Amino acid sequence: MITILFCLLFLRATLAFRNETVSPGQSCTCEAFLPETVFPMGELELLEKSSVQISHKLELEISKIEMFESKLTIYMEKTLNLTVLIGIMENNPDSYTELQIQEVKIQIKQIEALVVELKASIELSSTVLVSIRKEVTAMIVILTQLETTYDKNLVLLTRREYIKLQEKLEECERRHNEIFNPNIGSCNRGFISRVSKPIISHLNAHLNAGHRYGGWGKDSNPLAGSENMYWYSGSSSTLVSQVSVYADYYRLIMRQSMKTHELYTSRDWRGVGNNYIVRGNTLYYQYREPFSMGKYNMTSQTAVYRVVPSASNRFSYFYSASQNLDFAADENGLWVTYATDASNGRMSLGKIDEEAFALKEVYETNIYKPSVGNTFMVCGVLYATRSVDIKTEEIFYAYDTHTRKESYVSIPFEKFQEMYVYLDYNPIDQKLYMYNDGYYVSYHLWFHQNKNKAQLLI
Ligand SMILES: *[C@@H]1O[C@H](CO)[C@@H](O)[C@H](O)[C@H]1NC(C)=O
Ligand SMILES: *[C@@H]1O[C@H](CO)[C@@H](O)[C@H](O)[C@H]1NC(C)=O
Ligand SMILES: *[C@@H]1O[C@H](CO)[C@@H](O)[C@H](O)[C@H]1NC(C)=O
Repeated sequence: MITILFCLLFLRATLAFRNETVSPGQSCTCEAFLPETVFPMGELELLEKSSVQISHKLELEISKIEMFESKLTIYMEKTLNLTVLIGIMENNPDSYTELQIQEVKIQIKQIEALVVELKASIELSSTVLVSIRKEVTAMIVILTQLETTYDKNLVLLTRREYIKLQEKLEECERRHNEIFNPNIGSCNRGFISRVSKPIISHLNAHLNAGHRYGGWGKDSNPLAGSENMYWYSGSSSTLVSQVSVYADYYRLIMRQSMKTHELYTSRDWRGVGNNYIVRGNTLYYQYREPFSMGKYNMTSQTAVYRVVPSASNRFSYFYSASQNLDFAADENGLWVTYATDASNGRMSLGKIDEEAFALKEVYETNIYKPSVGNTFMVCGVLYATRSVDIKTEEIFYAYDTHTRKESYVSIPFEKFQEMYVYLDYNPIDQKLYMYNDGYYVSYHLWFHQNKNKAQLLI
């Protein structure tokens, strides 16, 4: 009985490794050979197959988007032509017959109908993209599990396929987003209305479950030629000792950094708190000693710091210690949030003059920093999050620096793991970047069409 059991186990192990040297039939007198981990080849093959399928679906979506783009160009030209024609007619109303005017009206109706049709197809394609995104995310989770449990090299090939897939998806979403939302960089829209499902890109570059502290993202004001650059910093503690930069998304996922900047060598430029951002190839972070705002220029590879007199290091965010100064960048520039002793831990928001690297304006809010998960800025509005449960986070607060008004809102979103130490918005792609217990996670955002419209709860 035991021999048969071992035999079955052995067979399973053998088949799993596709070991051709042992033929299953004759090896039943086998010794009890059990590899430590049975590599799930089947699962990997399944992943490869679905990668191909998803890739086909994406090709289809890309061709649709190309069609949308060309249709849009034609509609725009037609609208332009009609506008010109109507202008001419208005100037000489008497020289046109009723028939000619009817003709123009019909043309306008036609364009209207075409626009409605295009809108419907774009919406349909948007749902398809969301479902593809879900599939890819599920696959990445499986891949990451395989990668942490089994030999990394065996998973590598499949991972490459998935990176290509993700890149294709990114491109598809970007172009789709451009049709929907051509105003990246503009702030002519309302508050955030919705946050997408979490998009998981990666597990920390150190491939180490202990690296729960860190951050990742893109430069919010990239130097010319560095538009595709990504950065990552991670650690097993809240100390910030290095930051790595990657030429593009592919290299980020392949863990092929362009350079790793060490903040702790013969001198000590280390930071704490993982609330940094990268802007203009410069890391803005909480300087460790003295407690101050730090600025490490990755171009000149030098650091400077500025003490914020009223900032207190007694108040951190909910999930992690030492998060006293949190940097953010949006369409309007660079910001820092902190709490003060005078306000008993309520948050202040400072606008940073980037040239002088000094606060030029301070806004006082009424939220108590230790209850806040994290904050980020979009178009001069501070958003604060808090935990709802282990899978759900919520944007619960917004402070508009234009009106100096605050409002309580409720925009729940899913998180992948319970704890996160990093959350920031990037105005370049209007996405949120999160470092969620070692995972690189991002979110798309939706905004209210009308300015000044928020879902007010008070
Ligand atoms: C395949 O079989 C050979 C010969 O029995 C053995 O040396 C080798 O370790 C096996 N490979 C795996 C991956 O189990
Ligand atoms: C717009 O007008 C130009 C010049 O009259 C013409 O060549 C072009 O075909 C028109 N475009 C459309 C889409 O009707
Ligand atoms: C970083 O250093 C470079 C080279 O000295 C300089 O041109 C650039 O303005 C600096 N960037 C910032 C944000 O200070």
